[in-house]
Amino acid sequence: MSTQNTGPLGADGKANNLDAYWMPFTANRQFKANPRMVVGADGMYFKLSDGRELMDGIAGLWCCNAGHNRPRIVEAIQKQAAELDYSPAFQMGHAKQFELASRLARMMPGDLNKIFFTNSGSESVETALKMAIAYHRARGEGHRTRLIGREKGYHGVNFGGMSVGGMPANRKMFGSLVTGVDHMRHTHGIEENRFSRGEPAHGVELADDLERLCDLHDPSTIAAVIVEPLAGSAGVIAPPVGYLKRLREICDRHGILLIFDEVITGFGRLGTPFAANYFDVIPDITTTAKALANGVIPMGAVFVQDKIYDAFMQGPENMVEFFHGYTFSGNPMACAAALGTLDTYEEDGLLTRGAELGGYWEDAVHSLRDLPNIIDLRNMGLIAGIELEPRPGAPTARAFDAFLKAYEAGLLIRTTGDTIALSPPLIIEKTHIDFAFETLRGIIKSLD
Ligand SMILES: Cc1ncc(COP(=O)(O)O)c(C=O)c1O
Repeated sequence: MSTQNTGPLGADGKANNLDAYWMPFTANRQFKANPRMVVGADGMYFKLSDGRELMDGIAGLWCCNAGHNRPRIVEAIQKQAAELDYSPAFQMGHAKQFELASRLARMMPGDLNKIFFTNSGSESVETALKMAIAYHRARGEGHRTRLIGREKGYHGVNFGGMSVGGMPANRKMFGSLVTGVDHMRHTHGIEENRFSRGEPAHGVELADDLERLCDLHDPSTIAAVIVEPLAGSAGVIAPPVGYLKRLREICDRHGILLIFDEVITGFGRLGTPFAANYFDVIPDITTTAKALANGVIPMGAVFVQDKIYDAFMQGPENMVEFFHGYTFSGNPMACAAALGTLDTYEEDGLLTRGAELGGYWEDAVHSLRDLPNIIDLRNMGLIAGIELEPRPGAPTARAFDAFLKAYEAGLLIRTTGDTIALSPPLIIEKTHIDFAFETLRGIIKSLD
């Protein structure tokens, strides 16, 4: 185990080293043998402890959509810390919660006018699932308790989200999970869809898998269906043309709530404010987090249709209507960061920038097609998926090598399985796109 110092000594004079911190979703031993330490960030770049710059090809973790060190956000946080550091989340309020919720409600299409604050995508998902079950109960349909997710879905790491999620590695260590959950089939791997630009043409009929589950369980037992409009974590899987519309129709037919998990697609990633705009499909509940506060302060928001909120507003008025919430729901620092973020998105036109740059980005992605070991290229908005042929007997190894080589070459990418995912800050310029894809071209060529 490494005992390499990470910076200044602690106040007790002892070395701060890499041993104590158990890193999330990280190959801890590999990292601690060869640490990759970030010391600063500005615009499109991280600054590393060895003095190098690293271009951010993934907006931190799909969250810094306005890039780094944005003055509006920095200023908002600094001011807020001096003015009101914390306000109790329960039975007390502060003005920025209400301002932010009102602004968010105006941004979202349809009747998703009620906003519940959380601190992460995982918490937004748990909140949405609980709301869905409790909503049906409040309307006298307490038999609707079943939750439907999809294979290859990612909805965070808490028990509800993990259970409706469909990534085997994220589930297999954790026992029997939440009961009463089933999964539709995923939409990936359709041979005719390889090298699709935007929405793939084939696979709309996979939405009918929901009808199969309705037949099996009876729709009257199903509370909600949750899907990512575009599945990010499983490797950038865009929905087939017409798929989400069909899901919406089936949900409507059977009184099932449709939840869009927009933790990745929310706030401009697809070139529209939300995926709901892009696909012209309005869900009953939308979960968001990540780019809501530009990744600067943890924050999530669940958008809910009026009808759902209204169903809870019954009984004595001094009673809590929904027994759920977090100590840090809508905390002043996060609200200030989010308001500064929304200002920045608005001033820089970032929520639609993906549409302007989308063509250039798409051509850059598909320019890699002639390279060895590429089995698919996918894109939508400012997202790319570059799927590599796995090395025989060593799945994920080739992509992880690409990650390490890209890091050495000054580009931060993310890999999932053998897919490289790109989702840069929306402030990206064509020169950055050129750098990213020239770098990747060299790296992919060099991979054994
Ligand atoms: C679609 C989706 N839902 C939920 C989450 C979980 O978010 P968090 O890591 O903030 O808990 C993620 C994270 O990547 C995500 O992509």
